Amino acid sequence: MSFVIAIDGPAASGKGTLARRLAAHFGLPHLDTGLLYRATACALLDEGLRLDDVEAAVAAARSLSLVDFDESRLRARDMGEAASVVAAMPAVRAALIDMQRGFASRPEGAVLDGRDIGTVICPDATVKIFVTAAPETRAQRRALELARAGEAADYAAILEDVRKRDARDSARSAAPLKPAADAVTLDTTDLDIEEAFAAALAIAEKGRVTGR
Ligand code: CDP
Repeated sequence: MSFVIAIDGPAASGKGTLARRLAAHFGLPHLDTGLLYRATACALLDEGLRLDDVEAAVAAARSLSLVDFDESRLRARDMGEAASVVAAMPAVRAALIDMQRGFASRPEGAVLDGRDIGTVICPDATVKIFVTAAPETRAQRRALELARAGEAADYAAILEDVRKRDARDSARSAAPLKPAADAVTLDTTDLDIEEAFAAALAIAEKGRVTGR
């Protein structure tokens, strides 16, 4: 039976790391759907187009190819902010639905992480986890991650980014960031990565057995 794990949560909550580790544990393919929005924004910026050009954003979203992603560029700080601008456009979100559902419908199942996986993309997912943490903790983690990737990381500016992006992602009318009614919330504020993974794994194992 297909085993789909939907992981959602705010910026830098650790959902990507948990999704990758759950995918490795269960031998499932993983899609970081944030990369789709980041790559859409990146395509506009590369062509010197405005981020609010809906027509160009939809065309960019439609022509994305998962294999061409330059992840180090897409994960840069400014690209997260740009992604959240194009992600607020309903037409851009609509253009990316089939690709995501196609990925989720592989026979063995899949792990997808994002903002609307449990609510919109995979409402019938076997397991839904909403990963969250205090904004200060998330900003600290993101600063460390960026510093490791060689990007200058000012904690105060990153905290401001995280807050602004959470507000935009939660307030938009198209697929706002919110837990699905049947999601299990995992607050990782006081957990290190091993503890967070153990908790996520317990939720996933329980969901797999009971079908939630
Ligand atoms: O890694 P981080 O949580 O900072 O960001 P991300 O998951 O790569 O997502 C970047 C931006 O894309 C988010 O702030 C959202 O605006 C948007 N996004 C979305 O709207 N829906 C998704 N399923 C995934 C990302």
